[in-house]
Amino acid sequence: PRRVAVLISGRGSNLEALADHAGPYRIVLVVSNKPEAPGLDLARMRGLPTLALSSRGLDREQFDRRVGDAIEAAGAGTIVLAGYMRLLSPAFVRRFAGRILNIHPSLLPLYKGLDTHARAIAAGDTEAGCSVHLVTEELDSGAVIAQARVPIHEGDTPEDLSARVLAEEHRLYPQAVSDFIRNGSGC
Ligand code: GAR
Repeated sequence: PRRVAVLISGRGSNLEALADHAGPYRIVLVVSNKPEAPGLDLARMRGLPTLALSSRGLDREQFDRRVGDAIEAAGAGTIVLAGYMRLLSPAFVRRFAGRILNIHPSLLPLYKGLDTHARAIAAGDTEAGCSVHLVTEELDSGAVIAQARVPIHEGDTPEDLSARVLAEEHRLYPQAVSDFIRNGSGC
């Protein structure tokens, strides 16, 4: 199986979905930029190697170099961002060019960045969703490789919509990562 590293910052429900899915990959490292991320406990409960790295006192390039060195030391060829809420430096993206995937809670190219569900509701959209895409230097802008759609219902709060989309994320992401690996992308 392909050795993958998963990068998280928080809850870790997508990490959990990836870990519990039987695909052509093995999670060899979970990295969090937040030492208190609940997702680290989910990883530990599954016996996955974890690394919590605080960015205090480091600039973006220095921090990302440490993350990248740990990923290479673990022998991971593909990097899967799962709720990783820190911008990646251009140098990191170049170092792992074509080998970094992200899941974003909108139907890209709509609603890059934060507060996607509130923005979709405020716009009067009738559907929302999530997108798996390749990571490039520009935020949420790399090629989309998979999407899932859900309806927006009258009276939905951002929390309602978030829960509906998240259920689709958990289904979509392990499948998209598996397809990406099987189709011979990354290394
Ligand atoms: C997910 O909804 C993911 O799509 C989103 O953060 C959440 C993480 O949840 N990611 C982004 O907004 C990336 N900009 P999780 O920690 O439970 O997987």
